[in-house]
Amino acid sequence: MATGTPRPIAPAKGKLGVLCVGLGAVATTFIAGVELIRRGKAKPIGSLTQMGTIRLGKRTEGRAPLIKEFIPLADLNDLVFGAWDPVPDNAYQSCLHCGVLDKHEHVEPIKEFLQGITPMPAAFDQNYVKRLEGKNTKQARSKKELAEALRKDIRDFKAKHKCDRLVIVWCASTEIFIAPGPAHQTLAAFEKAMETNDASIAPSMLYAYAAIMEGVPFANGAPNLCCDVPALEQLARDKGIAIGGKDFKTGQTMVKTVLSPMFKARMLGVAGWYSTNILGNRDGEVLDDPESFKTKEESKLGVLEDILQPSLYPDLYGNLFHKVRINYYPPRGDNKEGWDNIDIFGWCGYPMQIKVDFLCRDSILAAPLVLDLALFFDLAQRAQLSGIQEWLSFYFKSPQVAPGLYPEHDLFIQQTKLKNTLRWLGGEPAITHLGVEYYEYGEK
Ligand SMILES: NC(=O)c1ccc[n+]([C@@H]2O[C@H](COP(=O)([O-])OP(=O)(O)OC[C@H]3O[C@@H](n4cnc5c(N)ncnc54)[C@H](O)[C@@H]3O)[C@@H](O)[C@H]2O)c1
Repeated sequence: MATGTPRPIAPAKGKLGVLCVGLGAVATTFIAGVELIRRGKAKPIGSLTQMGTIRLGKRTEGRAPLIKEFIPLADLNDLVFGAWDPVPDNAYQSCLHCGVLDKHEHVEPIKEFLQGITPMPAAFDQNYVKRLEGKNTKQARSKKELAEALRKDIRDFKAKHKCDRLVIVWCASTEIFIAPGPAHQTLAAFEKAMETNDASIAPSMLYAYAAIMEGVPFANGAPNLCCDVPALEQLARDKGIAIGGKDFKTGQTMVKTVLSPMFKARMLGVAGWYSTNILGNRDGEVLDDPESFKTKEESKLGVLEDILQPSLYPDLYGNLFHKVRINYYPPRGDNKEGWDNIDIFGWCGYPMQIKVDFLCRDSILAAPLVLDLALFFDLAQRAQLSGIQEWLSFYFKSPQVAPGLYPEHDLFIQQTKLKNTLRWLGGEPAITHLGVEYYEYGEK
């Protein structure tokens, strides 16, 4: 029984255009996967929007519909795809180049569909992604002009494909590290900086700006500063647009944000956490550049400090040594191997160790996240939730939050936050797990 008032949500009617910035491994694995699912050739494994259920009401009520049946999400058959990339390869060529999906089983059967997705010229500048070259780029005198050209692309795509709504997901490379500066503080400073080609305005910011100006929600899957700046956050609130990021939480960090809350829950100490990776895809090559790695490193390092709270537990986490490495190793391609060595200590300070060796597939883990983010950001927009979507921090390594808040990194707190937000949208009570009502002492 619903106890609240459902939030008004515009229906998910008509086509939803999903524009990916970047048409590399993650984007093509996502797009191809959706098409295979639509044709009944694959299952949407890893996608909460497609496979997840949501418990409603008391445990005795037995109500647990699929999320997509509880809340109005766009249907996979209504998705249309577009992309920008400085590399001119269409989605078919890119799929083959990236080598994530099996050529014969998963790429050739949808060859024509993939060939139909050709990237628009990118707003690209090699100064921000050093290990990448591409000829499919926009030429303009200023960054402001580039942003205007992106805005035109967005309008043209919407008209050409007769879309009812759009959503943009950054699936492009990790840019060099940029610290927030004066140009990012206000919209006026940001627009002036675009006009004067200020170095602190990265291409990813131009896409975010263009999206917000065109009324399109924007999710950032890389650790780039991008829309995590006051100027764009304010613009998003003023225009009523959903934004969020940063950096898809897929492999090693997902594991880290499950294990570290476990140590804290049991009051076990952590002396050191050494994480290393070998990765051989284009992302790995880009991250081999120290300036791009620095952006990723910041994103990966932050989680332990926020979860373990060494200032509250100095005896347990005050001297924690945390190290993260990513090594480019071509033979593995997209199949990343992530090792974690964790030195923990228990009763009377006795040391113990945990070793994790995650032999994962980077884009296989990331693709369902792109789908969920596209659908949930579209939902947020239809429900008029503007600005930062912290309830979607479940998907991000380095979640954007309102000023003054520390991010919640614990995967299961994030999941609870996400599901309670869906319940709130649907007019159902939040589930607190208090549960006293099942016992005599809880009855009044
Ligand atoms: N796969 C994962 O598990 C995972 C997890 C977290 C974050 N990410 C991030 O997702 C992003 C994509 O990863 P990937 O494996 O697909 O990388 P990729 O190198 O295969 O694809 C990225 C694409 O972005 C394009 N690109 C670069 N700058 C661009 C610009 N300015 N405009 C448009 N396109 C641009 C590149 O040409 C490339 O084709 C990376 O930033 C990566 O760090 C991936």
